[in-house]
Amino acid sequence: MAITEAGTYHIDIRPVQESRLQGIDFDSVPFGRVFSDHMFLAEYKNGQWQQCRIQPFGPLPMHPGTAVLHYGQGIFEGMKAFKDEQGNAQLFRPLKNWERMNMSARRMALPEIPEELFMEALTTLVRMDSAWIPPGEDGSLYIRPFLFASDALVGIKPAEEFLFMIICCPVAKYYNKPVRVYMSDHYVRAFRGGTGHAKAIGNYGAVMQPLAEVREMGFDQILWLDGYEFNRLQEIGTMNVFVVIDDVVLTPSTEEKTILEGITRESCIILLREKGYQVEERDITVPELLNAAREGRLTDAFGTGTAATVAPIGEIGYKDEVFTLPPVDERPVSIWLANEMRNLRKGHIPDTHNWLFRL
Ligand SMILES: Cc1ncc(COP(=O)(O)O)c(C=O)c1O
Repeated sequence: MAITEAGTYHIDIRPVQESRLQGIDFDSVPFGRVFSDHMFLAEYKNGQWQQCRIQPFGPLPMHPGTAVLHYGQGIFEGMKAFKDEQGNAQLFRPLKNWERMNMSARRMALPEIPEELFMEALTTLVRMDSAWIPPGEDGSLYIRPFLFASDALVGIKPAEEFLFMIICCPVAKYYNKPVRVYMSDHYVRAFRGGTGHAKAIGNYGAVMQPLAEVREMGFDQILWLDGYEFNRLQEIGTMNVFVVIDDVVLTPSTEEKTILEGITRESCIILLREKGYQVEERDITVPELLNAAREGRLTDAFGTGTAATVAPIGEIGYKDEVFTLPPVDERPVSIWLANEMRNLRKGHIPDTHNWLFRL
């Protein structure tokens, strides 16, 4: 049974015979293709989490009728472990990922994961694979918790059996160059009443084809607009968006539940406000953005997210036009913010908000 008398979850551990770590070059690992030695699994059956285990990383045996493959009833999270200067392994605000995972779970009719189970699974796995956390300034261990309907049943109804897993990948820096984004005026990612605010797997599958199109055009990512009038900024595929117009930092509000409540976004808003920047969470319209760009009042634009932290935007495409942002080294807001986030994680400045979780 999963729950021990102490009220924590018992995890059966089957370690690898031999680590695969030897021969991995952390400086050149491609994002998301190299996996650490172990993975966590827990099954939900008969209304209970059970069979919690950590075992060697490897393929899952899967019934061809597994519900998630047919109906997309699945969600995921993304977080990072990194080492500070002394080599201590840390996580950044892991309880925020737990909260968001359960918010996504509720939206997708998946069972919530108790805090103890999430934290016990996460900390045990990452401690076991801590040698996979790259040292140095930009490397980290990307952690992917995910949860999906595992009923072997081809029938459209909310599932009853589920699998919660965590896997990890060592990663190098995400974007090395300023990101080029394109504002699509006909594809839409999220709409009111939909799943845009959840990390539902279908949100990501549905954007692959539009993404391939903008990559053909020479851009890296889509800067999504609302699906009603294609007039208000939402977010970038894997990042929330910030722009600086007339010295005010603007980011779309999450009230409409069409964009992900990024943990990096929230942290950046707090840091910027504390530094004295005026930050407004509100609608940003396409004409407002483009007029500011034309008039030289758009002085900075960046994305925020776990994978990239703070990624400067180099170009914004819209219809047949491309707007070029000022050079990256002339952007005090994103330079300061990126440094602040890096310094915080590396332990160079005090963690006044208790955001770091020492492993
Ligand atoms: C669609 C989307 N928006 C924003 C983010 C940034 O969120 P966070 O800062 O929590 O990583 C992500 C990444 O998780 C994402 O997938």
